Amino acid sequence: MTPAIPFLDLKAPIEELRAETEQAIQRVLDSGWFILGEEVKKFEAAFAEYCNVTHCIGVANGLDALFLILKAMEIGPGDEVIVPSNTYIATWLAVSYAGATPVPVEPDILTYNIDPSLIEAAITPRTKAILAVHLYGQPADMDPIIALAQKYKLKVIEDAAQAHGARYKGRRVGSLGDAAGFSFYPGKNLGALGDGGAITTQDSALAEKISILRNYGSAKKYHNLYKGYNSRLDEIQAAVLIERLKTLDEWNERRKDLAQIYLQELSGPLVLPFVPDWADPVWHVFVVRHPDRAHLQAQLTAQRIGSVIHYPIPPHQQPAYAEMADYRYPISEKIHREILSLPIGPHLSRQNQSLILKSLQGGKPTDTQAKQNSN
Ligand SMILES: Cc1ncc(COP(=O)(O)O)c(C=O)c1O
Repeated sequence: MTPAIPFLDLKAPIEELRAETEQAIQRVLDSGWFILGEEVKKFEAAFAEYCNVTHCIGVANGLDALFLILKAMEIGPGDEVIVPSNTYIATWLAVSYAGATPVPVEPDILTYNIDPSLIEAAITPRTKAILAVHLYGQPADMDPIIALAQKYKLKVIEDAAQAHGARYKGRRVGSLGDAAGFSFYPGKNLGALGDGGAITTQDSALAEKISILRNYGSAKKYHNLYKGYNSRLDEIQAAVLIERLKTLDEWNERRKDLAQIYLQELSGPLVLPFVPDWADPVWHVFVVRHPDRAHLQAQLTAQRIGSVIHYPIPPHQQPAYAEMADYRYPISEKIHREILSLPIGPHLSRQNQSLILKSLQGGKPTDTQAKQNSN
């Protein structure tokens, strides 16, 4: 059954920017240059400026972005990297992929992000980095993380895959640690028309190494400095991202307006997102908690309203991490049991949001109502 109100509308952004997108793709077709050309260079410059950093390197996806940061930092077998127990599994996979060990730390139950007060106890002589995630579009509490990293001489990596444009104490995510990884997966706040990712950093040497690693370890054609990888943002995606970056702030503002309405209109037994006064989140998803999540989701589904669980199974309980099956992360497990993401996005109309709000209180949108309000 197709939802009358989808969780996320991927077609509306295409329609809003159809002319710009078609021109961008046409530019690439006319150039006849598809890999590491002018579009990637222009996007990297624009995204670096947006994040207020000196360097941006376009890569194939967000997982590679994190992996390449770790590789360039020479973090690998025998090393440990602190990660949140509550995150999308890609954060952990990047560490495993580099050959290092992810060491999970529980989140703050209010923000769902890594709890800085629990990090120190997880640091060992093998710890090389703290990989903080700005989950659901909300910045992690970076100052105490950076202070700990300075104390123990660790690197700080941001997983900003879900948080393009979010600010921490006025500063953009992507500029807070030693390096940050972004994803441009189509459903992200800044999404491509396929896979894409980027690394931002202020560190010139690290940026140079990553830009070589993403291209077979080669800075000069057929001269290979490292056993590198093939992980490049392609020209078509970069050209599309240049256009979409121009609307990112406006589209994030629309998300913020919708989030404010949810925060004003919804109440118990739903537990609403908590926004610390230093956080300016971009609402990649709007996550509520409910002790009877199955009932809440069934109620929305019955009323043909899309919802998604981000995420139903924590990484340590996935078969992929079977070696951690006996570990317990009760806060993360509780979050995974109770959370549900309500529709939010730059193209969710106020009218459809009203229907969602009504339905959470027992009303039922008709097809005609939802269709009329889908603009
Ligand atoms: C928190 C987080 N980190 C990393 C990634 C990986 O990004 P990609 O899907 O582009 O590889 C994602 C993607 O969903 C993510 O949500």
